[in-house]
Amino acid sequence: MHVAEPQPRTKIEVKRIRSAQGTSMTILYSNLPPDAKAGKQQALAPHGGRLLAVLRRRGVSPDAIVDFSNNTDVLAESLTDRLIKTIAPELRHYPETEAPALTAALAAHEGVDPSQILPTHGAAEAILVLLAGLRPRRLLLVGPIFSEYARTANALGISVEIEPLDPDEDFGLTERAVTSILERIAQTNADAVILCSPNNPTGQVYERLPELAAGLTNTTLLLDQAYRDIAMDDDGRSATVARYTDLAAAAGDGVGVACIGSLTKTFACPGLRLGYVVGDAALVDCATGIKPPWSVTALAQEAGTFFLEHKAEYNATRAPLPGLRRELAAAISALPGVARVLPSMTNFLCVRLREGLRPGDVAHALEDRLVLVRDCDDITGMAPGFLRIQVRTAEDNTRLIAALGEVSRSLV
Ligand SMILES: Cc1ncc(COP(=O)(O)O)c(C=O)c1O
Repeated sequence: MHVAEPQPRTKIEVKRIRSAQGTSMTILYSNLPPDAKAGKQQALAPHGGRLLAVLRRRGVSPDAIVDFSNNTDVLAESLTDRLIKTIAPELRHYPETEAPALTAALAAHEGVDPSQILPTHGAAEAILVLLAGLRPRRLLLVGPIFSEYARTANALGISVEIEPLDPDEDFGLTERAVTSILERIAQTNADAVILCSPNNPTGQVYERLPELAAGLTNTTLLLDQAYRDIAMDDDGRSATVARYTDLAAAAGDGVGVACIGSLTKTFACPGLRLGYVVGDAALVDCATGIKPPWSVTALAQEAGTFFLEHKAEYNATRAPLPGLRRELAAAISALPGVARVLPSMTNFLCVRLREGLRPGDVAHALEDRLVLVRDCDDITGMAPGFLRIQVRTAEDNTRLIAALGEVSRSLV
């Protein structure tokens, strides 16, 4: 395992510019990687879940828009609303840096020792602290994959390679794909590889992960499992998704393993910011060394612990998901602009548009009808031509189908 070495300090130049209105200052960071220099808008990766910005821009009330562009579990929203009202964390004191109750609850959830857990300010912070603590020399991302991996690696000056899965195989981790990933690691000398399963944006679960772990040597394997606890098959059975403990047991010689978890999807609380690392104690230590002490707030610690105590109730709220997903997938498949709806184990669908239809155009036309979906074209390692659509309530889904029907008929 390669642990962070001190990095050269960023040189900052301050340029004073005189104008008729007075003096203003421009700050130049001279040795940051190109993306970090590009300015705030370009340095932030685009994501779904931009409802509040759209409301502001369009000047409409929240009830006017239906947001299918984020991936939280809509079916859990009312339970979360109810539970969160009953907690009252102490906000006059600093939260405990070790978050002991939450750490113990997460350790029980994962079946590991508390030394193998690090709660974080969302999975997004888990990505940052793991990559900054580990500082791989060369990182292989198996795409498509959540864009924060490439953005964070780029900002940290880590060299990134992307191995895209095949859209004609629904982006599955096939036997051929496992071989090709192992070959790519050998060719590129990658010392870390990251995959996301259940995958965002494809909805695929990678069943061959233990096989991949067993084929690795002297590499760090990181797995994003933000959607693991939501995943279920069409009969309502929890999907068999390899967890940290399975991968650690399967991993080859000298292979470090860590998984990234998120509570924001499962417990419908993206505004709370709550994620975690579960992994080898040495990797968790690396990440802990980077994390700011109080980034997991008192509210997040108390709410996370409480939600985990109620996980059986959350599982029960998810019972309608397979039926809703099946109906939504069938209705979308029948629309003229749609080539294929990929099979999904999660609470969102990945939709391949007919050739010639651009997902950006479809997403814009839907936004004009106050329906938000995610154009996948800018997602790391994604093939062009796909939309990602959350599975919502039957009523919301009917509105999506009507709007997407109108748009695809007008664009085809
Ligand atoms: C695959 C994946 N990982 C991590 C995250 C970040 O989750 P969090 O809200 O916990 O930071 C997301 C959010 O969309 C995601 O899709």
